[in-house]
Amino acid sequence: MIKVSKRINDIIKRDRRVMFTTTREHYPFVADHANGDFAYDIDGNRFIDFSAFISVYNIGGNANAAVRNAVKEQADKLMHAAFLDFYSELPVRLAENLLTMMPSGFGRVFFSNSGTEANEDAIKLARIFTKKSYIIGFYGAFHGRTLGSLGITAAKTAQRERFGPFPNVVHSIFPNPYRPQFESETPDELAMACIDHLENNILKKEVSPKEAAAIFVEPVQGEGGYIVPPKLFMKELRRVADDNGILLVSDEVQAGYFRTGKFLAMENFNVTADIYTMAKALGGGVPIGATIAKKEFGDTPQGSHAGTFGGNLLAMAAANASLNYVKRNRRRLEAGVRQRGKYIMKRLNEMKEDYEILGDVRGLGLMIGAEFVKTKKSKTPAAKERDRIAEECFYNGLLTLPAGESAIRIIPPITMSMHNIERGMDIFENAVKKVDGGR
Ligand SMILES: Cc1ncc(COP(=O)(O)O)c(C=O)c1O
Repeated sequence: MIKVSKRINDIIKRDRRVMFTTTREHYPFVADHANGDFAYDIDGNRFIDFSAFISVYNIGGNANAAVRNAVKEQADKLMHAAFLDFYSELPVRLAENLLTMMPSGFGRVFFSNSGTEANEDAIKLARIFTKKSYIIGFYGAFHGRTLGSLGITAAKTAQRERFGPFPNVVHSIFPNPYRPQFESETPDELAMACIDHLENNILKKEVSPKEAAAIFVEPVQGEGGYIVPPKLFMKELRRVADDNGILLVSDEVQAGYFRTGKFLAMENFNVTADIYTMAKALGGGVPIGATIAKKEFGDTPQGSHAGTFGGNLLAMAAANASLNYVKRNRRRLEAGVRQRGKYIMKRLNEMKEDYEILGDVRGLGLMIGAEFVKTKKSKTPAAKERDRIAEECFYNGLLTLPAGESAIRIIPPITMSMHNIERGMDIFENAVKKVDGGR
């Protein structure tokens, strides 16, 4: 059992005194270092990391030696090159490198520092290119917390309240097969009902296609609860976008970078978007955002967008080293995600039979969610029980993170060994058992 020391409690007290209180409401993990499958707190306690530090350490805690060495070397040379005013080679190399991973026709990249910025850039790009202003997003979506991306975010009112109004954004319905929003017998029927709503309500009654610049979508909704849509939904979304001259933007900030077993999560749906946004794992731990577009969108007016730190050389060095590593090991990593994902889903599906509070399990690759409910019949979200399970995991040496109203996300580094995946799942199951039995 992990013991929370006075040292840890003191840091948390100091934090509460000086930091804005908008974040960190989970268990008391005070990070010290990370190494591969493990994260360590300042007392040397070791945790199996099923959080990848919020989907950042996809290739292992503190990334790997190649990434660290690239950052160290670059730090000795030049950290910041004012890339938006001066030229430098590393950002160009990363853009070229990234484009080799993209579908054909993609030819332009803009670098920023975070996921929300990557989405801001995509909003502006869509508006420049289409000369239209409305953005269509989905309920349950999370695209960031700056005022443009926050307008499209619609995962929790706590994230939006006090900050609106958000002009020129409308939301449509993202299919949730566990909690179908329309009467439907199959996931495909649900997908088509959601598409029908988009075509016949949103685009006929709320915003004309003449005014709609882009549809923003997460291939798998992340913060909204790890919701995997039916394949048909994404295919039909592409058709609606094409039929109406609207761009499709795939937010790959959380689902991208091999999290689902493919470089782009959208590849699982055999759909190509017009613009992709990435961040999180792309920098291997160093802040980065990237907006990647088809070549024809790239002739953007001078002065229409920029940022001091876009193309920062530490981020570029880290991202290049990480990308080279995943490219070299692509086959092995993709197979590893499939194998580990299959194992976790099997374990969770077995657990679902045994524990009343485990209502639903879903996932794509190693982007897996387990949703907790009061009873299977009522499907009433069990947020408190979910939090207790996450705490129980923590005290037994496993880091997890919540998602949506009452789900836990299971997102280990994609490089985690099968042995540690199994050990992590044992801890997870014991925690569920304890909370389920203790109700
Ligand atoms: C899908 C998605 N888009 C955008 C963001 C925002 O990224 P950032 O926190 O780097 O601004 C997140 C963060 O969780 C995300 O999951």
